[in-house]
Amino acid sequence: MKRSVTYHFLLFGPLFPLLLFSFSFAQPSPDTAELYLKCQPTNFTCDHVVYNEIKFPFRTDAQPDYCGHPNYILTCDEENKSLMMNIGDKPYHVRQNIDYDKQVLDLIDADLFSAVHLPNSCPEKITNTSISSLESSYLAYVTNDINLTLYLNCSISTILTPGKLFPIPCTSSFPEFFGQNAFFTLAKEHIEFSENEQCNATVLIPVYDQFNLGDFSSGTKNFSDVLMLGFGVKWTIGQTWCGNCTNSGGLCGYNVTSPNSPACFCPAGAMSNGTNCSPGMRPASVFFVSFLDLYSGKTCPRLIFANQMIILGILFCSLVNY
Ligand SMILES: *[C@@H]1O[C@H](CO)[C@@H](O)[C@H](O)[C@H]1NC(C)=O
Ligand SMILES: *[C@@H]1O[C@H](CO)[C@@H](O)[C@H](O)[C@H]1NC(C)=O
Ligand SMILES: *[C@@H]1O[C@H](CO)[C@@H](O)[C@H](O)[C@H]1NC(C)=O
Ligand SMILES: *[C@@H]1O[C@H](CO)[C@@H](O)[C@H](O)[C@H]1NC(C)=O
Ligand SMILES: *[C@@H]1O[C@H](CO)[C@@H](O)[C@H](O)[C@H]1NC(C)=O
Ligand SMILES: *[C@@H]1O[C@H](CO)[C@@H](O)[C@H](O)[C@H]1NC(C)=O
Ligand SMILES: *[C@@H]1O[C@H](CO)[C@@H](O)[C@H](O)[C@H]1NC(C)=O
Ligand SMILES: *[C@@H]1O[C@H](CO)[C@@H](O)[C@H](O)[C@H]1NC(C)=O
Ligand SMILES: *[C@@H]1O[C@H](CO)[C@@H](O)[C@H](O)[C@H]1NC(C)=O
Ligand SMILES: *[C@@H]1O[C@H](CO)[C@@H](O)[C@H](O)[C@H]1NC(C)=O
Repeated sequence: MKRSVTYHFLLFGPLFPLLLFSFSFAQPSPDTAELYLKCQPTNFTCDHVVYNEIKFPFRTDAQPDYCGHPNYILTCDEENKSLMMNIGDKPYHVRQNIDYDKQVLDLIDADLFSAVHLPNSCPEKITNTSISSLESSYLAYVTNDINLTLYLNCSISTILTPGKLFPIPCTSSFPEFFGQNAFFTLAKEHIEFSENEQCNATVLIPVYDQFNLGDFSSGTKNFSDVLMLGFGVKWTIGQTWCGNCTNSGGLCGYNVTSPNSPACFCPAGAMSNGTNCSPGMRPASVFFVSFLDLYSGKTCPRLIFANQMIILGILFCSLVNY
């Protein structure tokens, strides 16, 4: 059964000029195999943590533009040891578990993350997460996000609504931001302050809804625990077309020549029509690849695709199986 490569070469060697001839006359047509290779999911290491299989709509700054959306560029902050993504002009830390099926990722405001790294330390400042900057990055809150509301620089010192409003233990660390008295709540309803008891600022940041307010009253949970939670966002980029591309074996990306148009990059041997891959190749390529397949000792099913080559294919197959 075993045949040597030399034997094959002797058989088909004379056909080489013909093959090269037909190959070089092939019409240029959209071939995305090279882009498919350039946009392969990559394992991205940041501070010894491996973020597995980064792919569309995300890309690392080491990958070409067309592999991901310009708003979804992941970078490694070496100094703060974390994976980062900007939303608007605000940096966020990206948690390890990007869920490509649900299209959800978990984020923490970078200002909070530095505090998270040092347990029980306070962030220097906390700023609103603006819904409009999320929306302009095609991100939406997941259903179990709630607002953490911070009341800063308050004139009150006694808590009027026990069980709902809790002191922020950061006033002595950063009085210039938190003021003399500051409070937080996870309650969904608005908290009313009386006329002569006001707070100078309100800040809203999203967090996962994971606590009973009672845990803060009892002391089981505290402000540091809340800051570490982060929140979830669902991305909508590609949701109408990317599934079709990946289901057909492709990788999603953007058109190299018109970067706002979605593209589907297909492996060698498949053609892209923009959003789907389908089997099939240029006749000359089929001929070429099939010839290589024959050479490497494989059987001949690929030749079926090349209508023009069927007769030659039968000849090849019968020679090989001889
Ligand atoms: C990435 O890591 C996963 C799991 O550790 C591994 O299965 C996969 O082969 C890696 N991919 C690359 C491109 O190195
Ligand atoms: C690390 O975090 C601090 C505090 O949030 C920030 O000021 C600094 O710019 C960050 N470092 C880098 C390299 O982004
Ligand atoms: C927090 O409150 C703001 C302003 O009311 C709202 O736009 C946003 O959707 C809320 N966030 C969450 C996670 O519910
Ligand atoms: C706190 O509020 C008072 C007025 O209510 C204001 O004068 C002061 O500058 C504020 N401090 C901070 C840190 O915002
Ligand atoms: C908070 O304090 C600042 C600085 O004194 C002041 O300009 C601002 O009006 C105050 N805001 C509120 C809501 O009291
Ligand atoms: C944060 O957002 C809330 C609700 O939109 C707003 O009332 C508040 O003034 C904002 N705080 C700051 C510091 O911009
Ligand atoms: C907050 O709670 C955590 C455990 O959940 C504990 O390790 C930490 O010391 C607490 N911090 C404060 C300031 O009480
Ligand atoms: C895929 O294509 C079908 C029709 O061809 C369409 O109904 C569907 O919404 C598309 N999108 C995804 C994500 O599959
Ligand atoms: C990119 O767009 C051009 C037309 O602007 C089109 O001819 C080409 O096939 C597209 N490429 C991909 C990979 O979709
Ligand atoms: C690409 O092919 C798929 C099925 O093969 C079809 O549903 C889709 O409409 C085609 N898209 C374009 C842009 O031709």
